[in-house]
Amino acid sequence: MESLLRYLDWTSVGLALLGGLLCLVLLEIFRLNSSRSRNPPGPKPLPFVGNMPQMINDPKGLIRSMPKYGEISSVYLGRDIVLVLNNLPTIKEAFIQNGNVYAGRSSFAILEWVTNGYGILMAEYGNSWRQQRRFALHTLRNFGLGKKTLEERVAEEARFLIKELLKHEGKPFYPIHPIMNAVSNIICSIVFGDRYEYDDKRFAQLLKLINENIQLAGSTVGRIFNMVPFIKHFPGPHQKVWQNANSLKNFIHEAVEEHRKTLDPNNLRDFIDAYIVEMSKQQSNEDSTFHEDNMIMSTSDLFLAGTDTTAATLRWGLIYMMDHPDVQERCHKEIVQVLGFDRSPSMEDRAKLPYTHATIHEIQRCADLVPVVMHQTTQATQLRGYHLPKGTKVMPNITAILADKNHWKHPDTFNPENFLDEKGQLSKSDHFLPFSLGPRVCAGETLAKAELFIFFTSLIQRLKFSWPPGAPRPNMNGIVGLVRSPFPYNTVCHSRDTTH
Ligand code: HEM
Ligand SMILES: *[C@@H]1O[C@H](CO)[C@@H](O)[C@H](O)[C@H]1NC(C)=O
Repeated sequence: MESLLRYLDWTSVGLALLGGLLCLVLLEIFRLNSSRSRNPPGPKPLPFVGNMPQMINDPKGLIRSMPKYGEISSVYLGRDIVLVLNNLPTIKEAFIQNGNVYAGRSSFAILEWVTNGYGILMAEYGNSWRQQRRFALHTLRNFGLGKKTLEERVAEEARFLIKELLKHEGKPFYPIHPIMNAVSNIICSIVFGDRYEYDDKRFAQLLKLINENIQLAGSTVGRIFNMVPFIKHFPGPHQKVWQNANSLKNFIHEAVEEHRKTLDPNNLRDFIDAYIVEMSKQQSNEDSTFHEDNMIMSTSDLFLAGTDTTAATLRWGLIYMMDHPDVQERCHKEIVQVLGFDRSPSMEDRAKLPYTHATIHEIQRCADLVPVVMHQTTQATQLRGYHLPKGTKVMPNITAILADKNHWKHPDTFNPENFLDEKGQLSKSDHFLPFSLGPRVCAGETLAKAELFIFFTSLIQRLKFSWPPGAPRPNMNGIVGLVRSPFPYNTVCHSRDTTH
């Protein structure tokens, strides 16, 4: 009798499980088919995992297959559909004309895990995001932007960078650390009121952590985490992301404590001072979002968003200059004609340096630094005949705009003529979208443009870059994490004073 019961139990349990599973799969297939019939076309997804297997096994094949699906396409990240907008009119209709509807940040589990949704970058659309973003923009402006001092700070840092690079004069070397250190020092000046020497070991370690996190979070590690976030309770490479983020938070926390001890409310030195004062000003305000967690995360966001982006763009810039020595020479000649060998550039010089300015635009166009920008709708809406429920993930395909065959004179090659008119003057283009667009447009756009112009112009004014003889060319696809950064490469630089 007992054994019969056991027997019955096992078969019925087994059958029930199997039946349940079958039902789940059938339901999922049904859900997918109905979702696909209502949504824009795209590659065929599998139940539960969507297009993730293709993305992991054959990302290039998937990417190549996408353009055939037209102005709006779709991919499934796990069970969630993502709508991809592939041309400028559609992107503008969404992100400009209905900006607020598309200004949600799509949750990205691995970053949500480490940020808790605090700060700016990963904050959901709402009061906290609005206050933190406005405060950061305002403070970035007050501690330099628009005033002369920040431009001078960048120019000074550029001189330090050139000195550092010249330590390797004539010998092949990998310039990642000095460039990251220089770029990060600009954020440090604004946030901490101080810069770090290029041989500061602790700061070098911090920069490495930031770089590593940007790569890990955007890699397969981040994508898998997004599908099965409960792995946060288990060991694995994602724990590295957590540790790195914590090191950065601790670094900022220590700086905050240091600032508290020496704060003079009548003489604010930097972003952290300004934040501490804002926090106490808003203490009695119940809706205030100025608290410790947001302070640490907003600061961390400025670092994360403001270091690797600009630094990787400059590293792409050196690659394009080494690949196109004629362009490098022409920039150098133009710069020396206007500035001589010694005067540092300022933003006012842009108008007098149209070829150099166009070259920087072209570097940003070809670098296509942030190919994946994920938003979600903040309310239900309609777009080109499709119904988008609240919370639908939407991505402007920035790559498609930066390489639009119908718009650019030379879409597939590096050529500053893309940004020059017949008179040799800079021609602006609304297809130039490296900073994205709409209410969530890069909060550091003005700063980044100043950094790129002053660093690049200073470097090309004083140095000449070339590939080491016989060096293999790096794979130009780059390493795609949250940003697309170049593979490691060596460069050789020479001082212009001796070569010319
Ligand atoms: C070449 C350099 C840079 C590029 C290409 C770049 C690009 C971008 C892009 C594409 C976004 C996403 C916008 C969106 O969601 O639609 C973004 C967001 C952001 N960037 Fe930048 N960025 C650069 C430099 C900087 C710098 C220097 C800072 C620091 C001050 C910064 C701070 C931010 C912040 C805080 C956000 C989040 C904005 C929000 O969610 O409201 N970025 N950036
Ligand atoms: C974005 O556009 C590019 C160029 O047309 C295309 O190769 C790529 O697959 C698109 N990305 C997505 C996610 O659809």
